[in-house]
Amino acid sequence: MLSETDARARGLADLPPVESDSLLQLIALCNADPRPEKIDVGVGVFRDGVGRTPILQVIKDAERILLETQDTKSYLGSAGDKRFAELIRPILLGDHADDERIAGVQTPGGCGALRLGFELIATVNPNARVLVGTPTWPNHPPIIRSVGLQMIEYPYYDRDACSIRFEAMIDALNDARPGDVVLLHGCCHNPTGADLTDHQWDEVIRVISERGLLPFVDIAYQGFGRGLDEDARGLRGILSACEEVIVAQSCDKNFSVYRDRVGSLFLKTGSTEATARAMGHVFQRAREMWSMPPDHGAASVRLVLDTPELKQRWPGELAAMRDRINAVRQKIAAADPRLSYIGDQFGMFSMLPLTKEQVLGVREKHAIYMADSGRFNVVGLGDDQIDRFTAAVVEALDA
Ligand code: LMR
Repeated sequence: MLSETDARARGLADLPPVESDSLLQLIALCNADPRPEKIDVGVGVFRDGVGRTPILQVIKDAERILLETQDTKSYLGSAGDKRFAELIRPILLGDHADDERIAGVQTPGGCGALRLGFELIATVNPNARVLVGTPTWPNHPPIIRSVGLQMIEYPYYDRDACSIRFEAMIDALNDARPGDVVLLHGCCHNPTGADLTDHQWDEVIRVISERGLLPFVDIAYQGFGRGLDEDARGLRGILSACEEVIVAQSCDKNFSVYRDRVGSLFLKTGSTEATARAMGHVFQRAREMWSMPPDHGAASVRLVLDTPELKQRWPGELAAMRDRINAVRQKIAAADPRLSYIGDQFGMFSMLPLTKEQVLGVREKHAIYMADSGRFNVVGLGDDQIDRFTAAVVEALDA
C-alpha cells in the first residue's frame, strides 16, 4: 500500500505492472488460439458433453417467476436477500441448521465470502496466521494477503505420488498457535480433486479442536463430489467439534449461476450474543466493500428453494452434472494406469504429474489449455475430446 506521502508524490502512471491471475491469463490465451480443435480444460466451469455451460432449467423457471413478480429493485441492505441465506442454511449445515449460534449472510459469490471472512479475522486478531495447504486455489493467497494476514503454507498434495501429504498436514496443524486459522476445502479440492477421507477429516477435526485453531471452510462445489450431504460431512463434523467456525459457501457451481455471483458467509461462535456482535462487524465490512450484494442470482436461487416444485427438481439437475463429472473421470482413469487416480478423486479438477514445460508442450502441440500447474477441468472435455486429451497426456508422460 502507498503511504500518504508516496500517494501525493506519485501519479497513476507510476503504478508497476501487475501479473494477472494465472487462471485469467489462461482464459485469454485459450480465447486467442485460432486452432478450431483446441480443448479448454482451464477455468472451472461445468460443461456438458457438447461443451456448453447450460443454464439450469430450475433457474430459468425461477427467473421467469422473478420477472413476473418482482415489483421493485429498491435496496435490500448489507445483508442482501435474507430469505436466500435462510434457505441455504439446511442445505449447508444439515443438523446444525437450528443452531442459533450460527448466522449467515449473502455475499457476491464464494470469493466475496472469503474476503469478508478474512476481513473479520483481521479485525478480531490481526496476529492470526493462516495455514494454507499447497497447492490451493490461486486466488486464496492474494485474498489472505490483501487483509494483511500472514500466511503459512504447508504441502497438502504430492503431485508425483498423486496423493495427499496427510502427515505433513497434521504436522503443520500441530505446529500452529491457538487462534491461528486453518483454511480447508470443504469438498472437491481445487486444484487437486484430492479430498480428505472421512477418517482423515476426523483426525484433522480432532487436532484443530484440541489446539484451539479457527477452521475456515471454503465450500464452493457442494454436490459436485458425492452428494449434497456427503460433500458437507467434513464441515458438519467441524461444526460439531469447534466453538468458532467460518464458512464461505458458493452457489455459482451447484446452481450454475457463475457470472451472477451467488454465495454466502456463515459463522459460528460460542453464543448467540457473540454471533450477533460478529455479524455486526460483518455487515459493516460488507458495507465498506460492496455496500449491498447483487440481487438477481440470489433471488433466483431463493425462488428455486422456495418453490416446492423447483426445489424438488434441483437435486436432479445437480446430480446430472455430478454424474457427468464422475463418468468423465472414469473414462480418463481407464485410459492408462498412470491416470487411474483420477477415478478416485472428486469435483471438476485433478492435477496431472506434468512439469510446466510438459504442460506448455501439450498446449503448443495439441492446443490443450490446462493450468501451468497441471490442473485440468475434467468436464472441460466434450465427449468427443476425451480420447484425444488422454492420448496427448499419455504421450507427454511417456516422453
Ligand atoms: C477456477 O478455479 O477455475 C474457478 O474457481 C474460477 C476462478 O474464479 O478462478
